[in-house]
Amino acid sequence: MLTDRTGFLMTPRSSKDQFNANADKYAISDVHRAGPSLPVLLQLAQPVQSDVCLDVATGTGHTALAVARFVSKTIGIDIAPKMLEQARRLVAEQAVSNCVFMEGSAEEIPLAGAQFTLVTARHAPHHFHHVGRFLSEVRRVLAPQGRFLMADQISASAEVFDWVNYWERTRDPSHFMQRTVEQWREEATKAGFSWVEHSFVPYRLEFDWWVEQAGCTEPVVSSLVEHAAQAPQPVRDLLNLEFDSTGRVLAFQEPMLVVRLE
Ligand SMILES: C[S@@+](CC[C@H](N)C(=O)[O-])C[C@H]1O[C@@H](n2cnc3c(N)ncnc32)[C@H](O)[C@@H]1O
Repeated sequence: MLTDRTGFLMTPRSSKDQFNANADKYAISDVHRAGPSLPVLLQLAQPVQSDVCLDVATGTGHTALAVARFVSKTIGIDIAPKMLEQARRLVAEQAVSNCVFMEGSAEEIPLAGAQFTLVTARHAPHHFHHVGRFLSEVRRVLAPQGRFLMADQISASAEVFDWVNYWERTRDPSHFMQRTVEQWREEATKAGFSWVEHSFVPYRLEFDWWVEQAGCTEPVVSSLVEHAAQAPQPVRDLLNLEFDSTGRVLAFQEPMLVVRLE
């Protein structure tokens, strides 16, 4: 159990509980459905009709659905059944016939090896506790010459790493770790991947939307407002923290790494 400076309790919560409780909001979230990391991911992936794709931690299926338009088949896996219910509803609504969903962990993918030419994981790996296991599972299920496209929020530098992770974990107690690009490079290399190409995509997140999305209670929101008010200058600069005239935080910037690994 962690406490913040005011003694506020931060109890870790499983991703399954956190996302089951907020699934309906993710189904209609524009940040997830059409956020700017998605076209960049597609551009770096270059999906083609012969591809068979696995979307890891698919959530309500926005990335899986976007990729399915280009490939022969897409499977989305996630540990939160309520997110998958929403994903199945969206697939039915959009009459997409080559996209299916199943329950499964990123760190223990319940599928046979060497069968996917494309694996994607977007806006999710910061929840994974065992990133080495996740990356080796992706390598296992990738076919020879397959490619892995990951898009995830990162800490802009080692200097802001602690502040950012505290900020994120206070807002969403299932948040595990927002790595720096250097940490991702190290993990990818350790798992035997080649780092082919990457891009940084900044997201401007409205604070009120961000706390609502995670189902934050009023004490949590107050704790976040206080944390932002006390942010040191490098954090203010790198996160581009915006405040209103009363000092309440309005928005901030989250850098998203999109990388192609092979
Ligand atoms: C923000 S949502 C995913 C968004 C989705 N990829 C998209 O592009 O819209 C994060 C998802 O990660 C899932 N998740 C977290 N940890 C996981 C794990 N270890 N294995 C599988 N799914 C996981 C959560 O259940 C949640 O649905």
